[in-house]
Parts: sequence; C-alpha cells; structure tokens
Amino acid sequence: MRVVVCRELGPLEGVVVEERPEPSPGPGQAVVAVRAAGVNYVDGLICQGRYQMKPPTPYVPGGEIAGEVLAVGEGVGGVAVGDRVLAMTGFGAFAEQVVVAEASLQRLPSAMSYGQGAAFVQSYSTAWFALAERARLGEGEWLLVLGAGGGIGLASVDVGIALGANVIAAASSTAKLDAARALGAVAGIDYETEDLKTKARQLSGGGVDVVMDPVGGAHSEPALRAMGRFGRHCVVGFAAGTIPSVPLNQVLLNNRTVVGVDWGAWAFSDAVANRALLERLLAMVDDGRLHPPAPAERPLDDAVAVMGELLERAVTGKVVLVP
Ligand SMILES: NC(=O)c1ccc[n+]([C@@H]2O[C@H](COP(=O)([O-])OP(=O)(O)OC[C@H]3O[C@@H](n4cnc5c(N)ncnc54)[C@H](OP(=O)(O)O)[C@@H]3O)[C@@H](O)[C@H]2O)c1
Repeated sequence: MRVVVCRELGPLEGVVVEERPEPSPGPGQAVVAVRAAGVNYVDGLICQGRYQMKPPTPYVPGGEIAGEVLAVGEGVGGVAVGDRVLAMTGFGAFAEQVVVAEASLQRLPSAMSYGQGAAFVQSYSTAWFALAERARLGEGEWLLVLGAGGGIGLASVDVGIALGANVIAAASSTAKLDAARALGAVAGIDYETEDLKTKARQLSGGGVDVVMDPVGGAHSEPALRAMGRFGRHCVVGFAAGTIPSVPLNQVLLNNRTVVGVDWGAWAFSDAVANRALLERLLAMVDDGRLHPPAPAERPLDDAVAVMGELLERAVTGKVVLVP
C-alpha cells in the first residue's frame, strides 16, 4: 500500500510517498481502508519539527480518517468488515490503510460523506469544546470568529449558530468570508482592510459576547477590545505565527475573561467525556443541526502541497487526501 512518510523532521520537501506492506489487525484492532484523510494546520508544523510534540522518525503523518473496515482482530465486537467509520489516529492517516484500536472508531453517520467525516473531528470538537463547554456561549449572544474561513473557523461559525448565537465572521479574503456567510454568519469583516474592533462593536450593537481566536498575532488585541460586558475571549491557536501580548487592563474593563482552550489535552486526559462529546456532535449532524461543509479532495501525492498551502494561509475550508 502507498503511504506518506516523513523521514526526518525538517523542510516539507523531505516528505515522500513510499510502498509499505499492508497491515494486519492485532487483538482489539481493525484495519481501515482510508477513503479520506483530513489535513490539519498542525500536520505541517509537526513534519517541520515546529510543534511541541516531536514524533520519532520515520513516521506517517495525518491524524484523522474516514473509511471502511477491511479486517478486524481478535476480540473486536463493535465493528464489522464493511462498516463506515471515522477515527482520530494520532499519526498514520496519510496512507491507503491504517490500523486503529476499536475504542477509537466511531460509526460515520449516513448523512456524512467520507470527506466530511475525515475533516470533522478536530475542527468541530475544538469549536464545541471552546464555545459550549469553556465559554458557555448562549442563545442570542454575539460571537466573533477570527480566521472564520479556516478549519476551526468554519466549524465555529456552524457550532455558534447551532448554539443560537449571532455570528460575525472575520477573515482575510472575500472567498473566506463568503464561505462563512454560506454557513450562516450574519456579517463579515475583512480584518486586513477594515477596523476589526470598531466594526465588530457596531455590528453587535455595543460589543460582542464571545471571541473565537485560533489566529493570534495582530488580530487578538482588537478582538479583545471588541468585547462588551462579561465578554469571553477563547484563546485557541496562533496560526498567524505570533503569540500576542495584550494589555491586562483590557481584561479588567467590562469584566472580561480570557479563556484557555486545549481540546487536545482534555480529550487525551478524559477519553470517555471526549467520546460523548463526539457522539453528541455526530448526532447533531444526523438531525440537521450541524452542517459540515464538503472539503476539497486531493490525491495522496499532494500531501506536501496541501500541508504547505495550509501553512501559507492559502486554503479556504478543509482539505482531505483521497488515497
Ligand atoms: N487549542 C486547541 O485545542 C486546538 C485544536 C486544534 C487546532 N488548534 C490550532 O488552531 C489553529 C488554527 O487551526 P485550523 O485547523 O483552523 O487552521 P487553518 O484551517 O489553516 O485556519 C487557520 C486560519 O488562520 C488564519 N491565519 C492568519 N495568519 C495566518 C498565517 N500567517 N498562516 C496561516 N494561517 C493564518 C487564516 O485565515 P485568514 O487568512 O482569514 O486570516 C487561516 O484560515 C492552529 O494553530 C492549530 O494548531 C488548536
């Protein structure tokens, strides 16, 4: 089978496609034929050695898949050959087949394509964990989403609307703002050309209630200043490449709160609660309350190109590799 291999951490050009023997399942495991593998911003950072977690090399990148069960090992009773599933795999997703522990497999709802399933878990779990669990976003509140045309951004628009919020999208291009509007954002702000703080305050009638911030850099402080009374600013990531420093008086004013969001660490430390969260999200897709957009599909050979495009800010929405 064909797999994408990162031989050593460094420039993405060192990542290659290789042939490997097909895997067999051990006890409690299944082999899944990968129909789509989600590409996330973090995948390129890990390959480059720029992420806090540095896997031993060589390794196969990619952390989430959707596909079809090809074989099951001893003791597996919850899934059978032919089942449509999705999973977070840790690593190993950019391949034609992957071995997954049964406990990590989740049934793919019939309403979802393989592409939607492979692009879903990280973005939607992070958005839900941030907005519903950490910031307690409520019905009728105003939510400002930074990087609204990205993976976490679009998921946050969708989750915010499902929670009953009025969503303002902020992004750097018309295409990204259009993607957020297509999901139901009521307004868009191009934060490269418009005054983010002033416009967000105007649109929300005095100040937003919650900021979803997976971007960092220069946009975090105006977003913080755009919040009204009891505003909550979710610190989710730093895709812009810099961790901002903000004046703490802006947190004191209006009784604002800065909310740290580390879904990955929480999911790892509480697998049972995380599974329940994912089941809840998948049920919301099934009953039409969430609408994950169809991702762009690219061949496995494009893994390096797609990871590069994400790091260069050139992607709207999500991309999956289709082996
Ligand atoms: N805390 C958590 O639990 C958690 C979980 C998953 C991911 N994350 C982190 O969240 C961040 C966003 O992830 P994602 O999947 O949404 O990524 P993504 O799909 O690539 O979107 C990130 C967005 O950030 C914006 N951006 C601004 N400056 C950028 C730059 N210099 N390079 C790249 N993007 C830039 C882009 O929007 P504009 O062009 O519109 O500005 C882009 O659409 C990443 O840092 C990721 O590691 C955190």
